[in-house]
Amino acid sequence: SRTPSRKGSAIKLNKTLLDHLNELESQFTVSTDLLKRVTERFVSELKRGLTNQPGDIPMVPTWVTSCPDGSETGSYLALDMGGTNLRVCEVEVQGNGKFDIIQNKYRLPQALKTGTREELFDYIATCVKKFVDENHPGGDKKLEIGFTFSYPCKQTSIDDAILIAWTKGFDIDGVEGEKIVPLFNEALKRVGCNNVTLNAVLNDTTGTLVASNYTKPGTEIGVIFGTGCNACYIERFDEIPKLHDYRLPADMSMIINCEWCDFDNQHVVLPRTKYDLAIDADHPRPGLQTYEKMIAGCYMGDILRRILLDLYENGVLFIGQDVSKLRDPLAMDTSVLSMIEVDPFENLDETQQLLENSYGLATTEEERHLIRRVCELIGTRAARLSACGVCALVLKTKKQSMMVGTDGSVYNKYPHFKERLEAAFKEVLGEDIGSKVITAPAEDGSGVGAALVSALQAKGKALTKE
Ligand code: GLC
Repeated sequence: SRTPSRKGSAIKLNKTLLDHLNELESQFTVSTDLLKRVTERFVSELKRGLTNQPGDIPMVPTWVTSCPDGSETGSYLALDMGGTNLRVCEVEVQGNGKFDIIQNKYRLPQALKTGTREELFDYIATCVKKFVDENHPGGDKKLEIGFTFSYPCKQTSIDDAILIAWTKGFDIDGVEGEKIVPLFNEALKRVGCNNVTLNAVLNDTTGTLVASNYTKPGTEIGVIFGTGCNACYIERFDEIPKLHDYRLPADMSMIINCEWCDFDNQHVVLPRTKYDLAIDADHPRPGLQTYEKMIAGCYMGDILRRILLDLYENGVLFIGQDVSKLRDPLAMDTSVLSMIEVDPFENLDETQQLLENSYGLATTEEERHLIRRVCELIGTRAARLSACGVCALVLKTKKQSMMVGTDGSVYNKYPHFKERLEAAFKEVLGEDIGSKVITAPAEDGSGVGAALVSALQAKGKALTKE
């Protein structure tokens, strides 16, 4: 029956299903106490990353030392290479928090993520050329472009970035340890795009912070909860021991890109389940990105897929059916969990159709309730553990309130993510401060933010190492 479900309707499960569910509940539930322990460890790792001691979180200086003051104007190109799409934009910065944007979006073909570096950079350069040819025919206007490259990079200046390691399912030889800018510039030449010069490389979190700070002054953290998960924030020089050799004024600040995906690679505090261990073992970078593999959109579908297969193998679900479609490592993405979590029907009719149409699997109503609960467990754990990073930044900076510019598909689309995140802020920081940590959707950080960083660079307001 397609009857919308009453909120909070109880799940009635038989003993086998219930036993398995209880086991999963105990593995995936993150208690308040654990949230606090994870956050505490996080704070010490953030601090360690600001020194020269080795640690899991690199705390990358971005050399962006100021946010826009509202006087920036001009037209800038931005290139945004996220996990799923590629975008080329032209942003007209109009001052005082205003901007206008035109853009083209291109899908990043899956094959490019594991192809050769020339294929990847030629594809990117071709997209830039198409956009420029359409919007600036003639090819004689000199254009500057800011590149939002959302992978962990070491930066020695705002227009220099060396890829530390691929994340989010990318695995392309010959790019890790290399400078990104020459790879991009050479590709531009190869495709005949000669009037475009790259003047800034930035992380998507940096773009998000700068763009949010432009439209909502006072924003001091930029976070992405999406295919990957990461944050940046504004830090004072006197709090960054590893930059003390530069003798910069103590009260001047710089945006630090945390690159926190590698939090707890030492396995001190995060409670990894056997599914997390299996994802790590099958990953092209085993041992790395421990935190991200438990919380980011890139992995949530795979966690569900592995649990479902495990339940099948234990004779709990899909008994006697052909589960071969579920065996494909890319079979499930996070949108599946989103759809199941918002299925409005009491008998989970939409879930039934989804499992049948996409995976050829029949389910009983009871089984679907178990599956829905599993999705809630994965989604809730992701949100709660994600909150720890943000709380750690609030504690590190000793703020009593915080505005957090936020972007990413999980934040924007995953049901209840924001509520779960906010509940965890209060559990960790207490009701008073926790309720003053406000996440607000960013205004297209990767596009507008890149344009604003280009504008700051053009004004000579971004610092270089020299
Ligand atoms: C991954 C990347 C990081 C990026 C984040 C969000 O963690 O390593 O650079 O900011 O995803 O896209």
